[in-house]
Amino acid sequence: MKAILLAGGKGTRLRPLTIHTPKPVVPIFDRAFLHYQIDLLTQVPEIDEVILSLNYQPRRIEEIFGEGAGTGVRIRYVVEPAPLGTGGAIRYAAQGVADTIVVFNGDVMTSVDVNAVVRLHRERQAQATIVLTPVDNPSAYGLVETEPDGRVRRFLEKPSPDEITCDTINAGIYVLEPGTFDRIPKDVSYSIERAYFPSLIERHETFVAYVDRGYWIDIGTPEKYIKVHHDMFDGRFSGGIFATADRTKPIVSPDARVEDGVRFDGPSFIDAGAQVKAGARIGPYTVLGKGVVVEESADVEHAIVWPNTRIGQGAVVHGPILGRNCHIGRNVVVKSSSVLGDKTLLTDYTTI
Ligand code: GDD
Ligand code: MG
Repeated sequence: MKAILLAGGKGTRLRPLTIHTPKPVVPIFDRAFLHYQIDLLTQVPEIDEVILSLNYQPRRIEEIFGEGAGTGVRIRYVVEPAPLGTGGAIRYAAQGVADTIVVFNGDVMTSVDVNAVVRLHRERQAQATIVLTPVDNPSAYGLVETEPDGRVRRFLEKPSPDEITCDTINAGIYVLEPGTFDRIPKDVSYSIERAYFPSLIERHETFVAYVDRGYWIDIGTPEKYIKVHHDMFDGRFSGGIFATADRTKPIVSPDARVEDGVRFDGPSFIDAGAQVKAGARIGPYTVLGKGVVVEESADVEHAIVWPNTRIGQGAVVHGPILGRNCHIGRNVVVKSSSVLGDKTLLTDYTTI
């Protein structure tokens, strides 16, 4: 069985972080986001290949995963000539595949039991099975109404407030039968949410829902990107380093250098090659990526700092996301949840 990860979006809501780093590979702690999805898929013994459906900066994604060595599964890449939309991309990536396919939107972090979803799909002999998750406000998602027997009654992408009739939304995880893909037009943009799913309902095909009440988040905005880190620090979601880490103390890579006299306060993560100098304070919910340098007496908290950024002596950095290779000067003060892109330079004594 094959899995397709839709990883072609531009990640506009995460700009400027996604200018040089496509959304599917933004770092979550020490690894690219898609690693967490691939981990989940390797729990399904039948899945022997993961196809990454790409179009925005495909090389940057291929460089990270190669042919899949070390991930436990073979990885293949399909790059669309032009963005084909979610439905078009699935059809394009599924060329030559006749067997059942598992599809993931490439920006959802979840603990769903994919084996159970595949089982339900088979039991119901469905054309399509969709995972639903409850959310407080469905307006940014695909609203999905179901029948008492679990069939999908209605699919409404991005409902307006007066159209919200339930709290279950499309979690962006499907099991599909490629036999139905011939209705997806070739070479034009086509949405699985706006066109394909409604077509299944119109034609009375077996389209069933699997409601999951476990962890689920879409990392597509800075707020959600930060939230997923907090949720992992706080134990609401385990994966990657948190599958084994001791949450009661800061997690410091054995290859990081923390000088004597650094004060830790609350949960934090320091990746390999990072360096924290004497007198600095690493406060709660701090993530320091590979090769980050925090100079003497700097004070960092509630901050996600991407690799190779340098935080100058005496700087106070509370709340932001800092891209790669930024230079935060001496005594700079950043006290906001701003998002600073790669190579941002803040001159000494700047206040944000
Ligand atoms: N290859 C390819 N080509 N991938 C694409 C394209 C495309 O043209 N367009 C979007 N994608 C990928 C994105 O990279 C993302 O991983 C996924 O498809 C979904 O696109 P988003 O842009 O993130 O959509 P959304 O978040 O507004 O809504 C979708 O996800 C929600 C759950 O997070 C919909 O599927 C909603 O129904 C759903 O509730
Ligand atoms: Mg999304």
